[in-house]
Amino acid sequence: MKRLLIWVFSLFCVLGIGLSRSENGLEDLKAKESLLSYLEKDAVSPGANSLMVPLTLIQGAASKGAVCLDGTPPGYHLDPGFGSGANSWLIQLEGGGWCNNIRTCVFRKTTRRGSSKFMEKKINFTGILSNKPEENPDFYNWNRVKLRYCDGASFAGEGHDEVNKLYFRGQRIWSAGMEELMAKGMQNANQALLSGCSAGGLASILHCDEFKDLFPPSTKVKCLSDAGLFLDAANVAGSHTLRNMYGGVVTLQGVQKNLPSTCTSQMDPTSCFFPQNLIANIRTPMFLLNAAYDAWQVQESLIPNFADPHGEWRDCKMDHSHCNATQMKFLQDFRIQMLDAIDVFSKSNQNGLFINSCFAHCQSERQDTWYQSDSPRIENKAVAVSVGDWFFDRTAVKAIDCAYPCDSTCHNLIFK
Ligand SMILES: *[C@@H]1O[C@H](CO)[C@@H](O)[C@H](O)[C@H]1NC(C)=O
Ligand SMILES: *[C@@H]1O[C@H](CO)[C@@H](O)[C@H](O)[C@H]1NC(C)=O
Repeated sequence: MKRLLIWVFSLFCVLGIGLSRSENGLEDLKAKESLLSYLEKDAVSPGANSLMVPLTLIQGAASKGAVCLDGTPPGYHLDPGFGSGANSWLIQLEGGGWCNNIRTCVFRKTTRRGSSKFMEKKINFTGILSNKPEENPDFYNWNRVKLRYCDGASFAGEGHDEVNKLYFRGQRIWSAGMEELMAKGMQNANQALLSGCSAGGLASILHCDEFKDLFPPSTKVKCLSDAGLFLDAANVAGSHTLRNMYGGVVTLQGVQKNLPSTCTSQMDPTSCFFPQNLIANIRTPMFLLNAAYDAWQVQESLIPNFADPHGEWRDCKMDHSHCNATQMKFLQDFRIQMLDAIDVFSKSNQNGLFINSCFAHCQSERQDTWYQSDSPRIENKAVAVSVGDWFFDRTAVKAIDCAYPCDSTCHNLIFK
């Protein structure tokens, strides 16, 4: 088993000191933020000649009220397509967690996840966003876009908090972004793929059918959700971490009205923010790429610090090879829950799957997991090839790994 990435991640509360005080305290928020950065972005392996793509702010967005949490305009990075890809469009919705109360949203305003003031002026396009065929065999010459995430509700909120000067305008950012890209040529697309990782992977699920409806029926439109399969699972203390958090996101940010009515007519709005209650009803072809032991969910949903006050799970959480039999059984149960959640979805011919038994997160953005000589495989097929085979209808792709530790191709994340 490969241990590719060792990261020095300063965990707070690991010794159980000052637990109740620092949970959701500033230090804890900063720790969560750096975990996200590590998982979703910063650890992208630097290529020899990397492609840095500039940030464009959506100038007209403010007049439509499409603004980041702090009221600044939203933005995106676009690298134009060329050759046979000139009329093909790949949109990647950026991820980065959520904010579920005033405190976490106010904190977020001071980061790039809540304000374009703090966004990088240029970012590396790697993995599915790379412009090199040897790094990205099927999408390298498409128009490739990263839409920045600065609302904190997976591009789905609608509301405003006057007192705290918070704008919850995720849905408007989504619309303004799509309008802008249509005007930049996406309206002439003959094929398009909406993707996204983590909170962006959830956004890709939430917006998939809306995306499809932007185009005439003749356009080939599909969606990819990477590490977006957030489960309503019980943590090691028996409570539902994500359900509690999503309840806050949905209520505070006015998400309910933007959730699919096929779900909200049957279930409470918080349930309808969970992919497991949405994916079976998506009309547009969809591909779910997810590690069965998603590294973010293990850290933040299954074993959050507050659910492990004595640190009994700490070693296991940081490095799966340190889990004992009881702990591994808990993680194996999580994989089973994930497979149950995709059961109906997987039966549709138009859908695709790549669920590998790895401890990873965001495998389409990172070059080392998307496509390189030793990248993760199921049945000897890399992630990039699997997604390409499905998008272009070359073969059906319903790849589900056997349970850990059977996969020797994983690039597992180890924390220290
Ligand atoms: C982008 O890649 C360059 C060169 O490979 C590297 O030096 C830089 O740190 C990377 N930047 C980011 C934001 O990842
Ligand atoms: C695994 O570790 C946990 C936490 O330390 C402990 O409660 C449990 O009994 C251990 N299980 C086994 C099989 O050793």
